[in-house]
Amino acid sequence: MAEKKILITGAGGMLAQDLVATLQTSCAVIPRSEYDLDICNREAVHDTICSVQPDAVINCAAFTQVDECETEKDKAFAVNAGGVKNLALACHHAACRLFHISTDYVFDGTKGKPYAESDEPHPLSVYGQSKLEGERYIRDILQHYVIVRSLWLYGRGGGNFVSTIIRLAGEHTEIKVVNDQKGCPTWTLHLSQAIRALLDIDAQGIYHIANQGSCTWYEYACKIVERAGGGATVTPITSAQINRPAPRPAYSVLDCSRFTRETGMALKPWDIALEEYLKSSI
Ligand SMILES: NC(=O)c1ccc[n+]([C@@H]2O[C@H](COP(=O)([O-])OP(=O)(O)OC[C@H]3O[C@@H](n4cnc5c(N)ncnc54)[C@H](OP(=O)(O)O)[C@@H]3O)[C@@H](O)[C@H]2O)c1
Repeated sequence: MAEKKILITGAGGMLAQDLVATLQTSCAVIPRSEYDLDICNREAVHDTICSVQPDAVINCAAFTQVDECETEKDKAFAVNAGGVKNLALACHHAACRLFHISTDYVFDGTKGKPYAESDEPHPLSVYGQSKLEGERYIRDILQHYVIVRSLWLYGRGGGNFVSTIIRLAGEHTEIKVVNDQKGCPTWTLHLSQAIRALLDIDAQGIYHIANQGSCTWYEYACKIVERAGGGATVTPITSAQINRPAPRPAYSVLDCSRFTRETGMALKPWDIALEEYLKSSI
């Protein structure tokens, strides 16, 4: 069988870098960074997808600065919704599948139990609202699509919570970290392997994918300092104490059972994944 041709947008980003490397071993990967292809440019998106004729487009492009989205609302919707609409229209025209990455921030965090794909979204922030609008365009325009919702990503391809905590632990004797938001740290390498598994089956619709288990940002920071060193004390604080511009869900653990049922694959527990990541990065 001929190898699949996969076009990846937002290829300069953190997830995309692991995804390109992961897929390159079994697919013909065509990476397009923001400089090669601005997803807000409808004509360029259409022309690229129609000329490349990929089997699938995987969209990793997004405006991901959650707090900045609150003040740059137009940009957030232009990229996270309008850009996704452009991709969906072009994929419809070229009859190729669209895989899109979305977020736990489409939920308000009040459920208190892991969120299933069928749970009603109710985003609290502009970022979450713009990502949800992107999802809706895909569902309205395309019959065949995959939306992967994940959360709390870290990886080698970009700045993230792990690199920030390691830096802060080297610079300060005390780090204050919020202890009233619960989620699941997820390694972009493992998420990339999961997306590869979805490419191999007849996946359709929304999938929640994350490393297993859950923790608060404070518990996550303690684990990073314990494993990576630095000697700083980690102190728990509340979200109200740091008062960031964008509200975050207090609880956004994702129920990943659909993914496991259909692929036979479960991502490792978050603390084991983090240890592997730290060992491989040092
Ligand atoms: N990071 C997380 O914790 C997290 C959690 C859940 C879901 N996600 C989702 O996962 C996906 C990947 O996230 P990530 O963490 O890898 O983010 P990232 O590192 O910020 O990557 C996003 C990439 O998109 C590019 N981009 C921005 N606007 C664009 C445009 N108009 N056209 C083309 N490219 C554009 C960015 O380029 P510039 O950097 O040059 O702007 C960046 O390279 C996103 O959809 C995000 O919403 C992330």
